[in-house]
Amino acid sequence: MSFYITTAIDYVNAQPHLGHAYEKISTDVLARHMRQRGEDVFFLTGTDEHGEPIADAAREEGIEPRELADRNAGRFKDLVERLDVSNDFFIRTTDPQHEAVVQEVLGRVHDNGHVYKGIYEGWYCPRCADFKVENEILEGNLCPIHEIPLTRESEENWFFRLSSFQRDLERLYAEQPDFVMPRHHYNEARSFINSGLQDVSLSRAKLSWGVRVPWDPDHVFYVWFDALLNYYTALTYARPGEDLLARFWPATYHVIGKDILKFHAVFWPALLIAAELELPQHVFVHGFLLGADGRKMSKSLGNVLDPLEVLEQFGTDALRFYLMRDVPFGADGAVGIDAVRTRYETELANEYGNLASRTIAMIGRYTDGHIPDVATDATLALEFDVLPAEVATVLDRADPTRALDLIWNRVRRLNRYVEERAPWELARSGADADRLRETLASLAEGLRVVTVLLHPYMPHSTERLLGALGSPEAEFRHALFAEHGSGARVEPLEPLFPKQ
Ligand code: MSP
Repeated sequence: MSFYITTAIDYVNAQPHLGHAYEKISTDVLARHMRQRGEDVFFLTGTDEHGEPIADAAREEGIEPRELADRNAGRFKDLVERLDVSNDFFIRTTDPQHEAVVQEVLGRVHDNGHVYKGIYEGWYCPRCADFKVENEILEGNLCPIHEIPLTRESEENWFFRLSSFQRDLERLYAEQPDFVMPRHHYNEARSFINSGLQDVSLSRAKLSWGVRVPWDPDHVFYVWFDALLNYYTALTYARPGEDLLARFWPATYHVIGKDILKFHAVFWPALLIAAELELPQHVFVHGFLLGADGRKMSKSLGNVLDPLEVLEQFGTDALRFYLMRDVPFGADGAVGIDAVRTRYETELANEYGNLASRTIAMIGRYTDGHIPDVATDATLALEFDVLPAEVATVLDRADPTRALDLIWNRVRRLNRYVEERAPWELARSGADADRLRETLASLAEGLRVVTVLLHPYMPHSTERLLGALGSPEAEFRHALFAEHGSGARVEPLEPLFPKQ
């Protein structure tokens, strides 16, 4: 099956932060998991480089928007690499191929009669690059997201007839209750639609940093239409000579943060209908990372957690694990360096890392470095048999936090198993050689199974551990608890998560 998954594309007017990292990591977990299951996956991420905030930021620095975009896009690309994100392509909306296809698709929307010219007057937030409707605005004419004063703007624009898609969107939401997940965001989008859609600006005349409107070159497209189309345009040029559209369109999952729900859950499907393109299957909405004090992260509050700092101190796998474990996907969650350290020490180093080191050391000591090729413990097997299917079901609902919790319960189960069986006692008495072999075979097998399932979360450490256990295969079908120990030779392993 083909599986097309995307993240939002990030604005390049500022530095990448942990919120960006969080979205890329969670999407990567889903993408890697689907690849493990043998699906034909295409995973897209990238940068959103047009629009007013970027033009403004460049002006403040006295440079051209293109220069700012080049510099900052590089930073986002570096971050994605350092996070071990396995994207198949990195789109930049300043790619000429992207711009050409935006013009083509929106030209079709124009030719299909879904646009008209008019005067727009309204309250505008320059940081959102969005006009706000009256009922969204906070007291004192503040942006509901950035809490900065909105400006009153009036200009001649091309408009997209969003209102004419009222019925189509009502039908979409009635027929596809899982179009937007989790449920409360579906409800939010649906009530936005039910409150009556208004037409929206499609172009800006005051701005020159954007994709030119082909039928009216004094205008550039409003950045959101240019940006949303990245999900489509990327497939037209990511692999020259290959028809990725035929293979992957439409998207299976768009993963986004809650602040950009309206664009993906309302504008995007309407635009696709207008352009006669198929609609995505699901929009998955995650919450916001907050500072350790539970407040929005901001430099002035001093509660910002810098992804690079965490990466340097604890490593990529630890950051990935921490974010997936500590912040329930779909909800907001507070994050801070102390919580990273606690999870690192108690869970990664003590529970998982120690389990791995002990298991390998005991196999080295008691069975000559070979995982005994004997029957594994049937009771333990029962507890592990259901695990892969449970994990897959939960990840199909895009809940990487819950899936990780299920896996971690088995990590803890294995630690209890070590204590219950006390292999060192069995070895000392010498009378229980069979039980010792069964214990070590079962432990190694349980450890291998959890490690295959943890692979999408912590690709680097799990590869090392699977290698040390002599079974490097990380495909999902290898997550089954075998009836026999593998007989493989184990290799010594440096601590997976060394003490800091
Ligand atoms: N450029 C638009 C998206 C266009 S998609 C066609 C944009 N960019 S952004 O850089 O502001 O945000 C990119 C993604 O990061 C969004 O999904 C946003 O919700 C997410 N996050 C930004 N700050 C965040 C947190 N503090 N926490 C979690 N995610 C957040 O919006």
